[in-house]
Amino acid sequence: MIHYRTPAEIELIRKSALLVGEAIASACALIKPGITTMQLNAQVEDFILKHGAVPSFKNYKSYPYATCISVNDAVVHGFPTNEPLKEGDVVSIDAGVYLNGYHGDSAYTFLLKGDTPEAVKKLLKVTKESLYLGIQKAMHGSRVGDISYAIQQFTEKENGYGVVRELVGHGIGRNLHEDPQVPNFGKRGTGAKLKDGTVIAIEPMINLGTKDVFHDKDGWTVRTSDRQPSAHFEHTVAVKKSKADILSSFEAIEAAEKANEYLELIN
Ligand code: MF3
Ligand code: CO
Repeated sequence: MIHYRTPAEIELIRKSALLVGEAIASACALIKPGITTMQLNAQVEDFILKHGAVPSFKNYKSYPYATCISVNDAVVHGFPTNEPLKEGDVVSIDAGVYLNGYHGDSAYTFLLKGDTPEAVKKLLKVTKESLYLGIQKAMHGSRVGDISYAIQQFTEKENGYGVVRELVGHGIGRNLHEDPQVPNFGKRGTGAKLKDGTVIAIEPMINLGTKDVFHDKDGWTVRTSDRQPSAHFEHTVAVKKSKADILSSFEAIEAAEKANEYLELIN
């Protein structure tokens, strides 16, 4: 069942979603070779708690951390680890915030400066662009498949990347995962109709090589089968009459990325 949220509910989801962006930005400022993803996780978790909110992911279906941090061939749901980051690493930070009874969910992929092939920079750029192409379709009267198609067309058809099939975007609100599912692949004009008040998390997970993935032995971390890098960007978005309202924001994250001398700029 799809929930249609009132303007007041949407403002509460926006509050949660904006806090996610600020929490990720605070961790972004710490990224450099030598720091561990466990330290980045601690930063995000402390930030969320200090702002009177709760990390949505911790204990969700027994997931043990406040964030998913997925490095290089890890696609999503990466466990934070005590392994130090290195030059050239691709680091995706995904977090959720629960505040005032509503969740917000957002993710961003960073690239540490290093001897990085242009192909990896382009993967991040195209994945981020595909998120906005999907968002453009999130308006009253379109269907979920319109979003899916826009993302798949650009990433797979036009750029030859692998679109992960096993994991999808989702409705979000009182629960972290609600109906409808929002795949990053599919046919135009199919799937659930989007109406004013539908709130969804759109989250392309795009692989440089094969679309195929496997689960790591930790039971959560999803990795590319060919061990090539993967990128993940996610916004929480409200469907409105004539266009999508992006409830999360990359503004703080992009400012922190720009200010961090260890990070490659991808836009
Ligand atoms: N953004 C991810 C998703 O929507 C969140 C990870 S779920 C958790 O699937 F289980 F790790 F919390
Ligand atoms: Co999500």
